[in-house]
Amino acid sequence: MSAPLVEVTDLTKHFSVRGAGRTRDVVKAVDGVSLTIAEGEMFGLVGESGSGKTTLGQSILRMHEPSSGSVRFRGRDILPLRRREMTALRPAMQYVFQDPFSALNPRLTIVDAIGEPMRT
Ligand SMILES: Nc1ncnc2c1ncn2[C@@H]1O[C@H](COP(=O)(O)OP(=O)(O)OP(=O)(O)O)[C@@H](O)[C@H]1O
Ligand SMILES: [Mg+2]
Repeated sequence: MSAPLVEVTDLTKHFSVRGAGRTRDVVKAVDGVSLTIAEGEMFGLVGESGSGKTTLGQSILRMHEPSSGSVRFRGRDILPLRRREMTALRPAMQYVFQDPFSALNPRLTIVDAIGEPMRT
C-alpha cells in the first residue's frame, strides 16, 4: 500500500504574543495534532472559531513554520526541506480559503469561476 497523502504527527504551532506590560504570552494555536489523509479522501476539520483550524492548515503547508511535530506528504517528511525543494512541491499542495468572497469573484458564475483555470 502506498503512503498516505498527508500524515501529520503531534504538530504544534505556538505564537509568542505581547502580554500585559512588557511580558510575552504564548498562544498554543495548534497543540499536538495528529491526522492522516489518504489520497482521494475528503477530510473535514470542524471546530469553534479560534480553535486553530486555519493555523493547522497553514502549518501543514509551512505557510507558518510549525513549532514541533512532523508533516509527511506522500511519505516524505517536508519540514526539513529547504526553500527550493519546498517550492518544487508547492504546485502539488494547495490551500482553499475559507472565505468564498475572497476566494471567488462574485461577478462570475460558479461555472465560470471554476472553469477559468481549466480553460487556461
Ligand atoms: N499570527 C498569529 N499570532 C498570534 N496568534 C495567532 C496568530 N494566528 C492565529 N492566532 C491565534 O491562534 C488561535 C487559532 O486561530 P485560527 O485562526 O487558527 O482559528 P480558526 O479555527 O481558523 O478560527 P475561525 O473558525 O474563526 O477561522 C487563535 O487564538 C488566534 O488568535
Ligand atoms: Mg480559520
